[in-house]
Amino acid sequence: MKKSVILGVSSSISLYKACEIVRLLQKRDLQVQVIMTPNAGKLISPRLFQALTGREVFLDMFADASVERVAHIDLAREAALFLVAPATANVIGKFAAGIADDFLTTFYLAATCPVVIAPAMNENMYLHGQTQENIDKLKSRGARFVLPGRGRLACGDEGWGRLAPPEEIVEATLEALSRTSSLKGQRVLVTAGPTREAVDPVRYFTNRSSGRMGYALAEEAVSRGAEVFLVSGPVSLPVPVKQNHVRRIDTAAEMETAVLELAGEVDIVIMAAAVAGFRPARAEENKIKKTGADLKLSLVRTPDILAALGRRARGPILVGFAAETGRIEDNARAKLQDKNLDMVVANDVSRPDVGFGSDFNRVFVITRNGRSFQTEKMSKREISRVIFNEIEGIIAREKSPPTP
Ligand code: CTP
Repeated sequence: MKKSVILGVSSSISLYKACEIVRLLQKRDLQVQVIMTPNAGKLISPRLFQALTGREVFLDMFADASVERVAHIDLAREAALFLVAPATANVIGKFAAGIADDFLTTFYLAATCPVVIAPAMNENMYLHGQTQENIDKLKSRGARFVLPGRGRLACGDEGWGRLAPPEEIVEATLEALSRTSSLKGQRVLVTAGPTREAVDPVRYFTNRSSGRMGYALAEEAVSRGAEVFLVSGPVSLPVPVKQNHVRRIDTAAEMETAVLELAGEVDIVIMAAAVAGFRPARAEENKIKKTGADLKLSLVRTPDILAALGRRARGPILVGFAAETGRIEDNARAKLQDKNLDMVVANDVSRPDVGFGSDFNRVFVITRNGRSFQTEKMSKREISRVIFNEIEGIIAREKSPPTP
């Protein structure tokens, strides 16, 4: 069966180029289903796309009230990828704000497939801080952008905002599509969030992990076709994996039980959780009451889950995280060796703009086979992509026969 690309067309003058995009996608054996915004439908007749694709063009949410099915939900199920080209500032703004007032913007919210967006607009609109903020927001949610180029614009001005060439848009689409199955057949375990170590029934030790890095990793693995298990500490984030594939835990000991249970069944383990290294020696059964004196607590080490997995003879690919506040590379290298990991991802948690609690991160990656590099400051979803590209490199090397 052909893969289905849903092509969203909004009302930029460059929308005539969407016809060429349809043709190029069809040449690559993809089925194209067009959704237009009502304004795009005023610039060009939907019949043109209907003729090109041989399929009804969706434009109006309530066009056929007699049809019982909910078309945007049906479409969302069949979609392998959602491409929006051209995407106006208005559509991008609505996506970023979650406004769903026509078929196209409603479909964006209903779609779970990868999203590729090719903006086209006047230069001032494109460079406006609000538009750039909207683009960053969508990027951090995993959307890919094929950024506009410089050139003559429909308004007569020269500048940024010109729709990228159809060939470039189609290339990016194919690349994003190829990723949707690059981890097919792989089982991935991701841990995320902090742990809580009880002092008494009302108090606990925890840390500043928000869980966002781990959840972004789980989301990326799902979008690459892997079967993903998530062991999560207490965080409030939407769960990106199947409900029966998520285990919620509180303490490091509970995380250990859950991870060791699943580790034998998976191919890749990514320990993104900020597991507490220490816990109170005992959790008091009753609340500790204040007295005149200071309270001294004794802390003991928690089991190092990752190190335990690293000691297994033939275990899954192991990826660990390192939260460092100094000598990042040296500390990360030591962690890679001590815990016998395939890859370590180190972040500088002393910087306020990235890492804990932020949507962004900037990491130092070191692999067992000698690769090491630092990323730019990127959204956690983009960091996840970089990490999985490395993991796929490790898998490819494991599969290929050793060179004599
Ligand atoms: N980890 C683990 N079990 C623990 C503690 C940590 O599996 N009890 C994992 C984390 O999920 C992470 C990596 O080990 O992948 C972090 O190692 P850790 O030694 O805790 O590093 P830091 O948090 O950087 O702590 P330190 O500064 O003590 O090195």
